Amino acid sequence: MTTQLAQPLSIELLDAEGAREALPALSDILQDVVANGASVGFMAFNQREDYQRFWAGITEGVAAGQILLLVARLDGRIVGTAQVHPAGKPNQPHRADVAKVLVHSSAQRRGIGEALMRVAEDVALKAGRTLLCLDTDEFGAARRLYNRLGWTEIGTIPRYALMPDGSDCGSTFFYKSLE
Ligand SMILES: CC(C)(COP(=O)(O)OP(=O)(O)OC[C@H]1O[C@@H](n2cnc3c(N)ncnc32)[C@H](O)[C@@H]1OP(=O)(O)O)[C@@H](O)C(=O)NCCC(=O)NCCS
Repeated sequence: MTTQLAQPLSIELLDAEGAREALPALSDILQDVVANGASVGFMAFNQREDYQRFWAGITEGVAAGQILLLVARLDGRIVGTAQVHPAGKPNQPHRADVAKVLVHSSAQRRGIGEALMRVAEDVALKAGRTLLCLDTDEFGAARRLYNRLGWTEIGTIPRYALMPDGSDCGSTFFYKSLE
């Protein structure tokens, strides 16, 4: 599935083969946002192999049907990504987590993050998931983005994670009902 947006941006839902092909570009994006100080699970000391290993794991999740992986292409180049993880528990068939919403620093502030979020909500809904959850670092641009897109902020847990430089970072939790 490809959602064509204002040219030359498109958002694409990848299958496992597409995810494997995208692995170098996705590793570039993750490495770039961490180098620019984003708290997204990695530290400044992480190396290229760590990012490649992470995306290889995500590719396996895509192949297993456990993860819906989106990429944003600008002029054909992958510059952003987002994931939807449908909850696997039998008592949460209606819920999914949104994760790793990332836009390369060279392409930020052009509406790509917003476009990724809108398509993530759309693919989640098509998968029957009507309650979405996510968390993000309390200081990042993503917090404003999620508030702007109508997500409900439920609070911040202090010292939940570390910034890439080792300093403390709280995580702010959100949900959105699509019903
Ligand atoms: C959070 C993130 C994904 C947002 O991506 P993005 O593509 O820059 O998002 P958008 O362009 O849709 O919105 C970001 C800002 O750009 C502004 N913007 C959007 N289109 C614009 C345009 N054409 N011109 C100028 N500004 C614009 C938005 O109003 C918004 O402003 P705000 O941050 O002051 O509220 C990106 O900053 C990122 O990858 N951060 C690091 C990783 C991270 O923390 N991810 C969240 C993990 S859950």
